[in-house]
Amino acid sequence: MTDRERARVLLGVNIDHVATVRQARGTTYPDLLEAASLARSGGADYITFHLREDRRHIQDEDARRLCQMPGVRMNMEMAATTEMLRIACALKPEDVCLVPEKRQELTTEGGLDVAGQLAAITGICGELRSEGIRPALFIDPEPDQIRAAAAAGVQVVELHTGRYAELRESSAVEVELSRLRRAVVQGQGLGLQVNAGHGLTVENVASVAAIPGVAELNIGHAIIARAVMVGLVESVREMKVAMQVEAIPQP
Ligand code: PXP
Repeated sequence: MTDRERARVLLGVNIDHVATVRQARGTTYPDLLEAASLARSGGADYITFHLREDRRHIQDEDARRLCQMPGVRMNMEMAATTEMLRIACALKPEDVCLVPEKRQELTTEGGLDVAGQLAAITGICGELRSEGIRPALFIDPEPDQIRAAAAAGVQVVELHTGRYAELRESSAVEVELSRLRRAVVQGQGLGLQVNAGHGLTVENVASVAAIPGVAELNIGHAIIARAVMVGLVESVREMKVAMQVEAIPQP
């Protein structure tokens, strides 16, 4: 396999959970821009973040600073609301992916019901486009939703791989992969760029990356979780070095 073929699918690294660690303590670290730079050093083609309505991880200030990073393509995930539209139009990330949001969910649970709210979604996408932002829609690999996405006038969809990632039984996994493959073919047939993401890990990513036509994958939780493990030895070492001081006698 050539390098070119290997790089066929681009990787957007979602850094939300770096902010989750910071928000757990209300500290100033870990720094999101540093995380974005490190992800780029590791080969991330662009950075993804989700400014949720409840601000559980990424904060407005993070979004602002990330969108000002020179030379780094930003993909902002957000709910299809007027508040988020206003923020996105001010920050102008290269890409915005509209996702459904429920306050109680641990993470994005399903795709956006584009077919059920076509006029509203079409309007928001039009406003994003008029600001030079490329809108994408996060949808389940369902024929109706893909048709609706094309009707909404977007050029990009992201297929929800959460169901694929959760399945354990190999025949069920195969059925879901076939559904994803058919969705990619349908999307491409309608002239859409087809991306995918959610729940992808080093163990399950290959079958999705191997689907012909998949352009980009957005992956977050598994990468940040793994970063804790591969970085822990160095982090402990740094602390041991910082502790190497003479005892200071108390007056
Ligand atoms: N794509 C979308 C649209 C998402 O909402 C998320 C989660 O924020 C992801 C990809 C990344 O999912 P994960 O963190 O499970 O890799």
